[in-house]
Amino acid sequence: MPNAPWPDQGTLVKRKPIDLRRHPCLLNHLQACRKRATSQRSCVTMYLEIALTLVAGALLYHFFFRKKEESLLMGDGWWGPGQRPGGEEDESIRPFKIETTDEELNDLYQRIDQTRYTEPLEGSRFNYGFNTTYLRKVVSYWRNNFSWKKQLDILNQYPHFKTKIEGLDVHFIHVKPTNLPAGRRAKPILMVHGWPGAFYEFYKIIPFLTDPGSHNLSEEHIFEVICPSIPGYGFSEASHKQGCDSIAVARIFYKLMQRLGFRQFYAQGGDWGSIICTNLSQIAPSSVKGLHLNMVPASGPKTQTPMLLSILFGQRFPGLFGFQEEDVKRLFPFLSKVFYHIVKESGYMHLQATKPDTAGCGLNNSPVGLAAYILEKFSTWTDKDFRDHEDGGLERKFSLDDLLTIIMIYWLPGSIVSSMRFYKETVGKGLGNSKHEALPVKVPTGIASFPNELMHCPLYWAKHKYHDIVSFNHMPRGGHFGAFEEPLILAKDIQQFVAKVEQK
Ligand SMILES: *[C@@H]1O[C@H](CO)[C@@H](O)[C@H](O)[C@H]1NC(C)=O
Ligand SMILES: *[C@@H]1O[C@H](CO)[C@@H](O)[C@H](O)[C@H]1NC(C)=O
Ligand SMILES: *[C@@H]1O[C@H](CO)[C@@H](O)[C@H](O)[C@H]1NC(C)=O
Ligand SMILES: *[C@@H]1O[C@H](CO)[C@@H](O)[C@H](O)[C@H]1NC(C)=O
Repeated sequence: MPNAPWPDQGTLVKRKPIDLRRHPCLLNHLQACRKRATSQRSCVTMYLEIALTLVAGALLYHFFFRKKEESLLMGDGWWGPGQRPGGEEDESIRPFKIETTDEELNDLYQRIDQTRYTEPLEGSRFNYGFNTTYLRKVVSYWRNNFSWKKQLDILNQYPHFKTKIEGLDVHFIHVKPTNLPAGRRAKPILMVHGWPGAFYEFYKIIPFLTDPGSHNLSEEHIFEVICPSIPGYGFSEASHKQGCDSIAVARIFYKLMQRLGFRQFYAQGGDWGSIICTNLSQIAPSSVKGLHLNMVPASGPKTQTPMLLSILFGQRFPGLFGFQEEDVKRLFPFLSKVFYHIVKESGYMHLQATKPDTAGCGLNNSPVGLAAYILEKFSTWTDKDFRDHEDGGLERKFSLDDLLTIIMIYWLPGSIVSSMRFYKETVGKGLGNSKHEALPVKVPTGIASFPNELMHCPLYWAKHKYHDIVSFNHMPRGGHFGAFEEPLILAKDIQQFVAKVEQK
């Protein structure tokens, strides 16, 4: 299933300069031209012909090939099991509620009680990964204090739905404003989570967007919020077929928004959410009113040279690259602050982009293994200095109730392996693929740059990919999980961005 048909680059004919040595006839002709004044007219005609051919070629290239090069095709796909059935797909939108049986919970508790722990190395804190002494504390809380029933009530406070798209049951919550002033329309915003996150990451930001008035925020822009689960994450069905990558998911979410009746909407995301929303803005630019990101994947052939130059000279000549003090602080010294950090923290990605099924097997059988694997990310990606805290700093920014709710959203549907497969499908194919990455994003874009993001992307890099950046703000605090960790400042950033887009 080619889900992103791509104009074959092989068909782009490059016009090489004509090498006269390889065309003796032409050469002779030209020499003859010079000698014989009588043939001057035919000579001029020939030059004219060549010139015309070149111009026509250039125009053809400009209007046909170049255009194709600059947009990403929507494509189509079907990811259900077996053969695609004939007939129309059932497009109904069904209400859904998260429910858990006692068997599921008993099974979970039994497995937790069977856990074997390895003692941490002396003084290692979180530098070897999740400290098992602290892990025992988390697990004891999970087993004795955490009330899944209470969390279920919180989860189900917003309306959940499922609908079939491209053969998959796609789960989402759709939250409408409760206090919409008469005559006002809410602005639809699609918010997409990442790994190892879930739609639940948005629960604290939703009230700021749907009911800003009650939270001392400007009521100029009131939103209705749609948070889907990426297929294979949480309660969205996983693809049965290979190849369900970020473009396919972007298209599925585009179809979801159309099905909900939104011809135009805002899109927001960090982590995979930022990549999916970026791809959505590429395949359906006229549907995305504005794209707001709290992580910018800085890469691609057009970014590489400016990136390299600014890494080499940015510390000494920040003005040359429009670097602010904050950019310099976050980027330099590059090797220790950025490069080694990325190497240290990205092993999981290599694993998941190559052998997700092997790596995920244990995690899908051990709830404690799963919790350690996921929560370590919530520690280090929130603040890399948390590695040096004995408890990974986890509870400084999050409650164990919130963190364990995310774990339950992976554990109960058994979705860790399919969530990891998304790396295999996407890394190297769209992400890291120079042909795809050369494609610019033209919809108005807003960037909230959190100081503890894994890799800081200054405006100078971002604008080589995102051509219409209307707002770029260095956030005062926060890391990779912006909506989960700092919902209020992220909500304010989204609101000021939307105000700018609407004024345009
Ligand atoms: C692991 O965490 C516990 C509890 O936070 C702490 O007391 C202990 O010192 C840590 N162990 C190591 C090896 O860092
Ligand atoms: C967990 O529950 C036990 C009793 O069931 C209680 O003693 C303890 O303080 C609780 N711990 C937390 C962190 O709430
Ligand atoms: C409400 O917001 C205004 C301005 O944003 C601020 O000055 C004021 O202190 C806030 N009030 C409360 C109760 O937070
Ligand atoms: C999707 O977006 C990401 C992030 O900008 C980019 O790296 C990737 O190349 C895009 N995929 C395609 C197929 O363009």
